[in-house]
Amino acid sequence: MSQAVQSVNVGIIGFGTVGSGTARIILQNAGLIERRTGKKIILRRIADLDTERDRGVAIPQGVLTTDAFEIINDPAIDVVVELIGGIEPAKKFMLAALKNGKHVVTANKALLATHGTEIFTEADAQHRSIGFEAAVAGGIPIIKVMREGLAANNILSIYGIINGTSNYILTRMTKEGAPFDMVLKDAQRLGYAEADPTFDIEGIDTAHKLTLLASLSYGIGLSFDKVYKEGITAITPEDIAYASELGYKIKLLAIAKVVDSEIELRVHPTMLPEDYLISKVDDVLNAVYVVGDAVGETMYYGRGAGDMPTGSAVVSDIIDIASRGETSCERRGCSFLNAAQNAGTGFKIKDISDIETMYYFRFTVVDKPGVLSKISGVLGEHNISISAVIQKGRREGEAVPLVVLTHKAKERDIVNAVREIDKTPVVAAKTRFIRVEDKEYN
Ligand code: HSE
Repeated sequence: MSQAVQSVNVGIIGFGTVGSGTARIILQNAGLIERRTGKKIILRRIADLDTERDRGVAIPQGVLTTDAFEIINDPAIDVVVELIGGIEPAKKFMLAALKNGKHVVTANKALLATHGTEIFTEADAQHRSIGFEAAVAGGIPIIKVMREGLAANNILSIYGIINGTSNYILTRMTKEGAPFDMVLKDAQRLGYAEADPTFDIEGIDTAHKLTLLASLSYGIGLSFDKVYKEGITAITPEDIAYASELGYKIKLLAIAKVVDSEIELRVHPTMLPEDYLISKVDDVLNAVYVVGDAVGETMYYGRGAGDMPTGSAVVSDIIDIASRGETSCERRGCSFLNAAQNAGTGFKIKDISDIETMYYFRFTVVDKPGVLSKISGVLGEHNISISAVIQKGRREGEAVPLVVLTHKAKERDIVNAVREIDKTPVVAAKTRFIRVEDKEYN
């Protein structure tokens, strides 16, 4: 495809939720896109093992095939859109498409976060683009923001709610006091969850997306293995109620921030002051809050999943590729990876035990005199300062929850203190702790 060509031929591999949305947008909005951009997007082929099921989109005759290689090997196709997800055969298809001179557009965050180096290297070798706007926060154009809109900034921090399933679960647990398992089943029934919901609820999907955002922002390559990952499975309605009493919401947050010239990269349930804008992002919605040294605070909000929102991001990548052509790709580097690394930041990634933040503890302790002083004594010995304590009810001699909020403390000290406290006979169950991000008290 040269810059002079006014039309772009597209083949989609994977006719599931996002594939259907992408096809619908191309077919419905082709006229609008052509008027707006001067580019005609032609949906030439769609490959899926199931060509019979009605997806509610009228696909012209001869477009559907069961063989992905009819797209990959079709000389007329300029852009291959990979929407099957997972590692294989998606990786094989992408590499073959690049080798055949196709540009690739994908929503596959898992593949790019874990095997992206190989794929972007091949794209660079072939002078072809990989569009992955749809891989992070669905319809929110956050990749464009990081690559272009904020290109003049040192990115100081990124806080994201970028997994709709876990946000939906935490929102319903918060609003209804509903237990985790019940809400997860609803999320699966409604089609929000990944094929394997472990990726959603254990923070893995969030970490895939954070890997891509952080790589763009900090020139640290694709560092998925170095992202600290903790999911929401251990959060109870009780924790959520205590958080609320203390003025906080619990959200599964992706965090990347520069601290002492190093990068913190972490995904975990986080207590946030309930009056923060991002704390108000509920249900399946996503939001990314980015602070740049020039621009200051910014926030991007929208649907992070679903056929049409994610399709919107896929089609924007196709338009982008059609508009930029090959020369622009050569100038800027087809691979965002090299472009980001050339920025030369290359920060060291902090180990989770080196971070410092505030913490919420829920101890399960025997209700008898001297217990609080025993626990606060151990915390004090580990340099952990208490800012609030809640203990309700009275069940003498029985186990009760004791909730403690701390000032800023070191994670290493927190872990050591919990280990020591959990060995004492006054503790009846494993202590839970949740990290708190609060500008006011940090
Ligand atoms: N399972 C993902 C989510 C879909 O819940 O956000 C979009 O990546």
